[in-house]
Amino acid sequence: MSGAIGVFDSGLGGLTAVGELHRQLPAEEIIYFGDTGRVPYGTRGRDTIIKYTRQDIRFLLSHRVKAIVVACGTASSVALPEVRGLYDLPICGVIEHAARAAAEATQNGKVAVIGTPATIGSGAYEAALRACNPQLSVESAATPLLVPLVENGRFQKGDRVTKLVLEEYLGPLLAGGADTLILGCTHYPLLRELVAELAPGVTLINPGAETARAVAAALREQGLAEAEGHPGIRCFVSDDPASFALHAEQFLGFPLSHPVERVEIDRYEP
Ligand code: DGL
Repeated sequence: MSGAIGVFDSGLGGLTAVGELHRQLPAEEIIYFGDTGRVPYGTRGRDTIIKYTRQDIRFLLSHRVKAIVVACGTASSVALPEVRGLYDLPICGVIEHAARAAAEATQNGKVAVIGTPATIGSGAYEAALRACNPQLSVESAATPLLVPLVENGRFQKGDRVTKLVLEEYLGPLLAGGADTLILGCTHYPLLRELVAELAPGVTLINPGAETARAVAAALREQGLAEAEGHPGIRCFVSDDPASFALHAEQFLGFPLSHPVERVEIDRYEP
């Protein structure tokens, strides 16, 4: 089956999945939507998150996509269980793949999770981790200040403000001795270097990258992966394309092959 892979998030975070998908499947076209006009999702109510998710999926379906990756912990945990059955194509969230990677990585059975208030409030990570191994001890914390910092480009190593915020969040959370930390919002792996400095020896789990590897393996197994071509990554956003392009290229580490385009996402029916 031909067609692109559709990926969405509220903003930059889903690029953590896009970067890995592109590495795994360079011949695949990726259509990315970052809902930068409505970020953050993670401090919003359930009905709003479901509505936004449905509009994002409908936008991706307006392109020829063969599968969708919900590269957003918030939409994966709050909306995906509600909406998955409405569409006739594979739609993959990030929770299960991240939980499985954490359950496999931990040596002492203690896993910590950070995420948006909506993701942590949903209990989805705890449930997924316990489904992998009921003996795991799980500590979680909502860390709502991190998404605005990332969206404002404050993810460079050495950023003093972001470091201070991370210290506040991670100090109490990791005091329980977790050896594995799920960066449970796809924006957070952009802070990986800063987190690693504050959590030496702790294994960091990147949900977008874990999911991208699992999706790539599934597409290959099912014979649905493209064998050749360099179609690249097409990015769409619901706010200013220029600032997204700048931060996206900084994060991905390569120039985008197509100009970032603007979408009126409210035109898409929920
Ligand atoms: N990157 C998303 C997540 O994984 C959304 C963050 C937000 O918009 O609050 O939860």
